[in-house]
Amino acid sequence: MASSRRDLAVRASVDQGLLSPAEPVVALLDTAGIRASAAALTSAFAAVTDAPVLHAFAVKAAPLVPVLRLLHEAGLGAEVASPGELALARAAGVPPTDTVLDSPAKTPAELRQALALGIAVNADNLQELDRLDALVASAPTASPLGIRVNPQVGAGSIGALSTATATSKFGVALRDEGARKAVVQAYLERPWLTRLHTHTGSQGVPLALMAEGVGEAYALAEEINRTVGRQQIDTLDIGGGLPVNFHSDEETPTYAEYARLLADTVPGLFDGRYGLVTEFGRSLLAKHGTVLTRVEYTKTSGGRPIAVTHAGVQLATRTVYAPDAWPLRVLAYDSEGRRRTGEDTVQDVAGPACFAGDLLATGRALPLLRQGDVVAVPDTGAYCFAHHYAYNSLPRPGIHGFTVAEDGDGGGGGDGVVTFTTVRKPQTLAEIVAESGGAHADALVG
Ligand SMILES: Cc1ncc(COP(=O)(O)O)c(C=O)c1O
Repeated sequence: MASSRRDLAVRASVDQGLLSPAEPVVALLDTAGIRASAAALTSAFAAVTDAPVLHAFAVKAAPLVPVLRLLHEAGLGAEVASPGELALARAAGVPPTDTVLDSPAKTPAELRQALALGIAVNADNLQELDRLDALVASAPTASPLGIRVNPQVGAGSIGALSTATATSKFGVALRDEGARKAVVQAYLERPWLTRLHTHTGSQGVPLALMAEGVGEAYALAEEINRTVGRQQIDTLDIGGGLPVNFHSDEETPTYAEYARLLADTVPGLFDGRYGLVTEFGRSLLAKHGTVLTRVEYTKTSGGRPIAVTHAGVQLATRTVYAPDAWPLRVLAYDSEGRRRTGEDTVQDVAGPACFAGDLLATGRALPLLRQGDVVAVPDTGAYCFAHHYAYNSLPRPGIHGFTVAEDGDGGGGGDGVVTFTTVRKPQTLAEIVAESGGAHADALVG
């Protein structure tokens, strides 16, 4: 169970000195949980289709080389959206055949590199297609190439994460006047365009709307193949976007639910005529990351108890700036890492940054936190602690993977022993100075 593994890991973090007064904030990744999610994704699609499926993890969700290596070992590829993400995928050993490039602002140099490597590319717009024309004409490539379309099916509950709105910046807006015809024509003129891509995510978008977006892309692929008179589009990239439950340890909705919904609403998608690519990010990692921080001080202000910790805007940027859209749970442990029980008290849990809004939780009911206590912030494995925001020059924390020894013989031997491995070292002050122009101290004087 993920929550009992987490409790053991919190305790072990204190016992083993990972979390200490000198290292008051760390991030943990539950290796078994990540593996389980990867397996759930793979088996959910295997249950509904025999077609080849590349599950390309959206690197943006957890841009960490060891995470990409783990997922690759579990059979997943990588969806990259920048030269940096591509470099991470390559460093993790993800081969070009398992990599997809999707960003909206690819430079000619990025496109050239992708085609030279044989990485799949989804053109975001028709200008990008012009660039691909020139590259394809200049040198042979093994890259599967496609176009991203925006089915314009509408928004979910979080505007900033809704990619399929009428005016979204992503893809060719399919319902705009003349757009559908232009896309069909583009395929007619380019026999090397063999893929079609859409991503109707992400958090806050209901499954039915995601499936509707996929259905629109499927219908367009059918239309294009009919018009061309052959199966020119052989692969559909249906994006990612499965939402995550941030309110409890329950992992809902599930990949199986989504795959079944797709099978019901877009049955042709799975009948074997199309290879498939998926690009899930948040749903693979979010539940398996936990931030741990020590309570440095407690105080009251206007009668409200406040626990001041070392985890705030630098790690949970979206939560701090948009708390209603991105609520996070906060769990209270004592200074030895044992779960605090007892009566709930309404309190604020603050971060270390120097602005008033740096709060992980406002008016939250939980056992009263004391100085030296440990606070755990679960569900932070995606788009959170690996996405450091450098406010106040706060250092990036160390990230540690953990495993919990199972009781193999049932006799209780090694049960519950937690082993940590370094995923990323904490940033040093020297590194902060270096990346803040330390080598150019005189640049603006004299
Ligand atoms: C093109 C594309 N694919 C996949 C994803 C991953 O979405 P999620 O992490 O919600 O699964 C995103 C997220 O922004 C995206 O833009």
